[in-house]
Order: sequence, then structure tokens, then C-alpha cells
Amino acid sequence: MIAKKHKTLFVTFEGIDGCGKTTQAILTYQYLTARGMRVKLLREPGATATAERIRELLLDGKLSIAPVTELLLYEAARSELTSQEIRPLLAAGHTVLCDRFYDSTTAYQGFGRKLDIRMVRSLNRLAVGDLKPDLTFLLDLDLRTARSRRGKRPDRLELQPKAFFTRVRSGFLEIARKERRRIKVVDAGRSVDEVFQSIRTILDRRIGRL
Ligand code: TMP
Repeated sequence: MIAKKHKTLFVTFEGIDGCGKTTQAILTYQYLTARGMRVKLLREPGATATAERIRELLLDGKLSIAPVTELLLYEAARSELTSQEIRPLLAAGHTVLCDRFYDSTTAYQGFGRKLDIRMVRSLNRLAVGDLKPDLTFLLDLDLRTARSRRGKRPDRLELQPKAFFTRVRSGFLEIARKERRRIKVVDAGRSVDEVFQSIRTILDRRIGRL
């Protein structure tokens, strides 16, 4: 079935580092494109020239960045991405897939860094306004497997201790429990194909309702 062209979807992929969300976002992009949908795949932080520069700062393992500065930099990158890319693309009828979005800030800066969750949520709102993903896939994976899947050169965030990622993972699951309609938890401990089948089933159902 081909989705009706004038309907769009905003879909985000979330999870701890090494959970496989980038691979799944790419497979989803290929799948929806093959179905004839106009799709853009973006990443956070990044996707615009300014936000990519902010990303370099944020991931530089040689820098020490205070938690609130870190929060503001993620929000600054998100404000760029939202206003320059996501909103115009949705308005032009594209489906937008985003590798991470504001749930990452709630999980990493809120739960991981232990910043006040209400402050984090209100800055998320400042950055995106009323924009909200239609669907979010949370790829849930145990820390040990996630760590074994990461690249050889860890970035600034990946250098954080295990306890940080334990809080981030349970933070993501708590966010998902509160928004069951939007956030679908997918067991990422299976093969790439199996994980994608789960994502595809959920997506097909959603597209069918457009
Ligand atoms: P990525 O490697 O998945 O592209 O994400 C970059 C890193 O930034 C990753 O370790 C998660 C982290 N991050 C946050 O801490 N807060 C955020 O709001 C976002 C979008 C990412």
C-alpha cells in the first residue's frame, strides 16, 4: 500500500548509545522510500551546518562541559534543526525520520545528569514549540550488549560511567511508560532483521491509519 501523499509522519528513534537506532532509522528510511513516500532522515544533534558545529563541541572527548551548558547546547542544536529543517519539511509534505529528539535530552540530561526534569522539559518546549513526534521507537538494550556494539573511539558522552547509562536507560523506559501511545519500546537485543520487523509492523499499522 502506498501512503496518501499529503499525509506526513514525524518519527523518532531513541535509545542508549550502541542500541542500533541509527541502523534501524536507515532501514526505515529505505523501506518508506521504496513505498513511494517522500522521506528525510535527520540526526540530532546535527543536520544543519550550525547544529553540526554544535555537535562537534558536544561530542569532543577533550572538552569538559558543565551539565547546564550541555543541556543548552543540545537545545540550541534542536532549535536550529526544528526551525530550519523539520517544520519546513513536514509543511512541504515530507515524512521526517529523526535519529534522536527531545526524549534524549530528558533521558540523558534529565535522568543521566540529574538535572531538574521540569526544567529540561520546559527547555525542550522552548526549542521545539508544539512540535511532537507522531511515533517514537525506543530501542531498549542492556548496557553490556550496547557497550560491545559501540565504535572503538568513544565520544564525550560514551565516556560516561556505567551508572550514568543505567539512569539513562531507565529514564527512557519511564518516559515511554508515560506516553504509551507515542513511544513504542522495541527489544533491541535481537538481530537487525528481527528488530526491523517489529518496527515495520508498527509503522505499517500507523501508515494504514493516515
Ligand atoms: P548519537 O551518537 O546517537 O548521534 O548521539 C550523540 C550523543 O549525544 C549520544 O551520546 C547521546 C547524546 N545526546 C544527549 O546527551 N542529549 C540529547 O539531547 C541528544 C540529542 C543526544
